[in-house]
Amino acid sequence: MNLIDRDLKHLWHPCSQMKDYETFKPVEIESALGSIIHLKDGSQLIDAISSWWCKSLGHCHPDIQKRVIDQMQKFEHVILANTTNDTIVQLVEKLSAINPELQKVFFADSGSDAVEVACKMALQYHAQTGNAQKNQLLSLQNGYHGETTLTLAIGDCELYSKPYAAVMPKVEKLKKLPYVTGLEDPTWDNIDDQWPALELQLEQQKATLAAIVFEPLVQGAGGMLIYSAALLQKLRTWATANNVHLIADEIMTGMGRTGQYLACDWAGITPDYAVMSKGLTAGFTPMSVVLTRDSIYDAFYDDYATGKAFMHSNTYCGNAISAAAALGAFEVYEKEDTFAHVRKNAASLQQRLKTVGDNTGCLSNYRGLGYVAAADIIYPDGSTPEAVERMGYQIYQEAVKRGALLRPLGNTLYFFPPLNTPERVLDDMAAIAEESIKAVMMS
Ligand SMILES: Cc1ncc(COP(=O)(O)O)c(C=O)c1O
Repeated sequence: MNLIDRDLKHLWHPCSQMKDYETFKPVEIESALGSIIHLKDGSQLIDAISSWWCKSLGHCHPDIQKRVIDQMQKFEHVILANTTNDTIVQLVEKLSAINPELQKVFFADSGSDAVEVACKMALQYHAQTGNAQKNQLLSLQNGYHGETTLTLAIGDCELYSKPYAAVMPKVEKLKKLPYVTGLEDPTWDNIDDQWPALELQLEQQKATLAAIVFEPLVQGAGGMLIYSAALLQKLRTWATANNVHLIADEIMTGMGRTGQYLACDWAGITPDYAVMSKGLTAGFTPMSVVLTRDSIYDAFYDDYATGKAFMHSNTYCGNAISAAAALGAFEVYEKEDTFAHVRKNAASLQQRLKTVGDNTGCLSNYRGLGYVAAADIIYPDGSTPEAVERMGYQIYQEAVKRGALLRPLGNTLYFFPPLNTPERVLDDMAAIAEESIKAVMMS
């Protein structure tokens, strides 16, 4: 039996209708380096989506690889409760240097775990600081925060959550978000006209609200939608005035994707919890983290008998190999000045997508921030494809045949390459996107 048949006999692939593999088989990976994935048949794929948004420095970065190998030779994992080691301490020092107001660092395994950690901290904080009625969460329309039941409930993507609705807690969504195109949008700095409608929704819930959970500025799985820095500033002011915590899910946006450590930095605000994963280890190994304030940590700090401790653990939290990878990622981000590179080249990444649209007439509603560029797929006559037509999926298949791993979200096409992708590879990625769109939409 060949490898693909052996795979399909047992392997249930993530986020896939397995029947699709009858006609479009999984591609067989041989190796991967930088922004390129090499296939068994000798062909290659440009990783235009950073392998689910995590490979911020591409594959097999030698500096990170070396750190990981060195760590493996010392030890690979020891329980983090009641132990410490040089690698993890170096990492918490790096993480606490991101924002002087976020000095406490809690580790988890996956992004979803870490969002739940932040939510649990906020709920427990209010319960043990005399505000037990503050026991609800609020999140944003079109948000995505992970795949556990609570994070699906906080999220607003029915595609992923619908079958489980009966066991999901009810979490209200902030609606009527004013979406923008990016930094140049006139409402980037000012949403005074839109704010009253948003504030009204917040005011109705403030008595019971423990925290607001949001993806800062860029909502990923919801369709790469962008809202303005002004909205974050308004939320910060309102939340502080009403003793409501802000949980910034920076899992996709953090560690340089938007050209800053935290997307919140664009708005000059500090959330009460910054949740990170993905780019934290540059996608080498799983690790997630919650950064929070001393004042929140202090509400849990007391004699054991008070029951105030935060009794959360994930088996591999603070895993030494992941910590070494994260230190390696920090080292490369600093040495190569990766985030400045993103800020400098973001406009040209977005222009590449615009050129694809200009050359095909099949893209509209452009938006982008940092190394995220997105647009919606339309027919050349301007009409919108139906979801059942699965145009994004067809474009994905054409792009794989031509040498790029582009994975549209429904009818949204986006570029999300490793932050250090060479220019010529970005050019090839755009050319493949263009040819694939033409093959699907104009044939
Ligand atoms: C914004 C955001 N939050 C949470 C998650 C969930 O992270 P994980 O898949 O590691 O659980 C993701 C994953 O894509 C994400 O983009």
